[in-house]
Amino acid sequence: MKKIFAAILAMTVLMTACSSGTSSAPASSASVSSAAASSGSAAAEPAAEKIKIGLVQMMEHPSLDEIREAILAELAVQGYDDSKVEIDYQNGQGDMNNLNTIAQKFVGDEVDMIIAIATPAAQSAAAATDSIPIIFSAVTDPVDAGLVADLSAPDRNLTGTSDAIAVEEIFALADRLTPGIQTYGLLYNNGESNSVSVIREVKAALEAAGIAYEEATVVNSSEVTTAAQSLVGKVDAIFSPIDNTVAYAMPNLAQIAIEAKLPVYVAADSMVNDGGLATVGVNYTQLGKQTAQMAAEVLSGKPVSEVPVQVLSEYATVINADTAAAIGLDTALVDEILSGSAAA
Ligand code: TRP
Repeated sequence: MKKIFAAILAMTVLMTACSSGTSSAPASSASVSSAAASSGSAAAEPAAEKIKIGLVQMMEHPSLDEIREAILAELAVQGYDDSKVEIDYQNGQGDMNNLNTIAQKFVGDEVDMIIAIATPAAQSAAAATDSIPIIFSAVTDPVDAGLVADLSAPDRNLTGTSDAIAVEEIFALADRLTPGIQTYGLLYNNGESNSVSVIREVKAALEAAGIAYEEATVVNSSEVTTAAQSLVGKVDAIFSPIDNTVAYAMPNLAQIAIEAKLPVYVAADSMVNDGGLATVGVNYTQLGKQTAQMAAEVLSGKPVSEVPVQVLSEYATVINADTAAAIGLDTALVDEILSGSAAA
């Protein structure tokens, strides 16, 4: 409970920061909704009652959007298309208050299932109901986030997919791509449990390898620039986990790192696309697909307790060639790693 509260505090500020920092993202209230919600109601009354699904996404972000699209596509493949289900899609816009309001709305609307994308969205849904089945998606550490006690045997109304991080593989990649790093900068939001548990593991691995680290933590996305600047001159490389707050400001982090010629290792492919140097990460389309398959099992009557959490186990190496060139890495080495990555 304490942990969830900490996350709530930390995430509340994210959106405030984002809406002032960039020109997009209208700062509207919690109910930023899709059109899907109203389609089935008034016009098509006579048909059998549709299954109601509340779909909540933490924020607008390329990886999270990719997951949502994959979930919707696979639900249709599984037979849960517009004719059978009514999907109420809501986006939290990075604000924990919005996420809580959305979760309560779903409970009030008596939806048949909640699908929640990213840890904070799943935590707010979990706090709102212990009876409606919740299928979470892309939760890095479901146990640490307090969603399940045991991945193989969900003990509440929650199950779903995890994008657990391949910590060893990421640091092995860093050793090949930029050998000789003596100090890592660790950049993350310490209110996101999905980051905190990974950082714990990373610190242990670095200590075991005799590599030093400097931490720079942020509470909202607007702090990422300053936090990244504070690491310049002190570290040889930066690592960021699959942190929602950092991911939102990834282009800012990338810009500072490129100017300082610092490699940035991340844990999600979208953060590489946004200018990070490299990762070994999961495929979020595949993750969304598996999430929808689990949702379909539960919709067809299987109890949540019999649907174990699925941890994605296929990882791919992703390197941003432009970033590599910009910080002066050997392009031949980048090509060699990428061509051999299937075997690694
Ligand atoms: N794993 C994140 C979480 O647990 C969610 C997430 C998935 C994400 N892919 C991402 C966050 C890419 C930022 C960038 O909350």
